[in-house]
Amino acid sequence: MIASLPPTSLCALLLASTVSAVAVPAFSGSQHAQVPIKSQDHSQGYSFDPLLHLPGTSPYFDAVGFGLEHKAPEGCNVTAASYLVRHGAIYANDKEYEEYIKPFLWKLENHREGWSGPLSFMAKWQSPIEDDKLEELTPSGAIDAAKVGKHLLERYEDLVPNTKRILADKKSRTYDTAKNFITAWPHNDTVEIVRVTKNKSGAMEELIPHKSCDAFSKEPGAEQQATFINMYGASVSTRLAPYMPFQLTPKDVVGLQQLCGYESAIKGERSEICAVFTDAEWMAYEYAWDLKYAYMVGPMNPLSPYLGFPWLHAQSKIFQSINENGKPGGSWPEDQRFFLSFTHREVPPFVATALGLFNSSSNAREQFPADHINWTRAWHMADLIPFLGHVGMEKMTCERGAVSGDGPGEFIRFIANTAPRPIPDCQTGPGASCPLGDFEHLIGKGAKKHRDFHKVCDKNKENKRKRD
Ligand SMILES: *[C@@H]1O[C@H](CO)[C@@H](O)[C@H](O)[C@H]1NC(C)=O
Ligand SMILES: *[C@@H]1O[C@H](CO)[C@@H](O)[C@H](O)[C@H]1NC(C)=O
Ligand SMILES: *[C@@H]1O[C@H](CO)[C@@H](O)[C@H](O)[C@H]1NC(C)=O
Ligand SMILES: *[C@@H]1O[C@H](CO)[C@@H](O)[C@H](O)[C@H]1NC(C)=O
Ligand SMILES: *[C@@H]1O[C@H](CO)[C@@H](O)[C@H](O)[C@H]1NC(C)=O
Repeated sequence: MIASLPPTSLCALLLASTVSAVAVPAFSGSQHAQVPIKSQDHSQGYSFDPLLHLPGTSPYFDAVGFGLEHKAPEGCNVTAASYLVRHGAIYANDKEYEEYIKPFLWKLENHREGWSGPLSFMAKWQSPIEDDKLEELTPSGAIDAAKVGKHLLERYEDLVPNTKRILADKKSRTYDTAKNFITAWPHNDTVEIVRVTKNKSGAMEELIPHKSCDAFSKEPGAEQQATFINMYGASVSTRLAPYMPFQLTPKDVVGLQQLCGYESAIKGERSEICAVFTDAEWMAYEYAWDLKYAYMVGPMNPLSPYLGFPWLHAQSKIFQSINENGKPGGSWPEDQRFFLSFTHREVPPFVATALGLFNSSSNAREQFPADHINWTRAWHMADLIPFLGHVGMEKMTCERGAVSGDGPGEFIRFIANTAPRPIPDCQTGPGASCPLGDFEHLIGKGAKKHRDFHKVCDKNKENKRKRD
């Protein structure tokens, strides 16, 4: 932004900041909210943390979001909530392991000498990945799951104790996450974990829509990602060459960067590898994955909203039914008001895309060039799909909400990794929430537009891809 300003206004900007810095002592003691009491605390503490820039492979962290209050806005109570949660930390994703990590580890095994400088620790470093249980929940993943479960209990202390049934899919990593997630709940022994293995009443389509959709594949974005990786990976390789016994390929660079996330997530402490790369190299890594996810599960894949709507539509029906009959409907226990499903990394992005939760604020089309970083994108998957990343939907009753001012109103709010995120098309309620009526209209419109799940999903009948 600053670069595009004419030189004179840049000058003015610098001048303005100098003046206010000089002015600080004069105001100390008076009540100027904009001036930090200990301004140095705010101006000298910046440090870059790569663990916040690893889409898909970092331990859980709360997203910063937009600064909206995490608690219900004043005068509002959350009366129901539903969460879609990615499983906790695993040893490594199969495909990523084969493609990026294993080739690097193999070379490492054959070159234990010749490491120096920032890489000297590699001479003794051991991979934490146990390759006979790649996709299983790790011990620290289990601990983190219990922590996030406890957080939700505290956040919804009136709702969580009535939760009798939660959902997982057939994979052990979602089931094991579910089991650990509820350990801190006071009624943990009465919670039933249902494994969704059949599409009864559309359950599979809501929980793992991409596995019910033959036209979905993990391929989109691979080419763009490879182009981008070849570019930044080559320069990282050149920079690190003096400190190591072999030349890293661009894919090795990615593998090594992934190991920062996986090792930290497996051991529950920061991996030494994280310090090897520069901030700019981490930002390139982050973009390479945001780019991939944008094409695979985000705004660049026309299937994404189709795959996000089944869950949204089903939760919206549950919330509506609670209003009408005081019961969530379906086979849900009557007094359940908190709903929880464990799924995989693809699904929260589908939901976010269906609502535009990670769209840029401009009306411009989302753009993901493969030859440079789009720094101003809003699509930051590090904030949505770390292990245990989640998208939540809250129903709130608010005192001053009704448009006519004659009584309480009802609103819907979305949460990504504990931070509220407004729906771009509907944010007129308290705390930028969406009035329930408007929300139902929005979901109705979306569901109608995306009703043809089967038309778009089943169309490649002849070259049907294997469902995995
Ligand atoms: C259930 O909660 C109790 C008490 O907090 C705890 O000791 C126990 O380990 C938990 N059990 C399970 C299966 O989570
Ligand atoms: C899943 O069930 C829903 C609701 O019964 C149905 O509309 C949908 O076609 C089913 N999907 C698949 C892939 O069988
Ligand atoms: C988000 O951006 C995509 C791609 O530009 C666009 O197709 C979609 O309509 C936007 N979604 C919303 C809810 O604005
Ligand atoms: C970055 O993305 C935004 C929206 O996603 C788009 O408007 C903008 O043109 C893109 N910028 C670059 C430099 O690619
Ligand atoms: C929210 O809950 C509190 C405590 O139960 C209650 O006093 C208040 O009236 C509720 N507010 C609304 C808008 O329902």
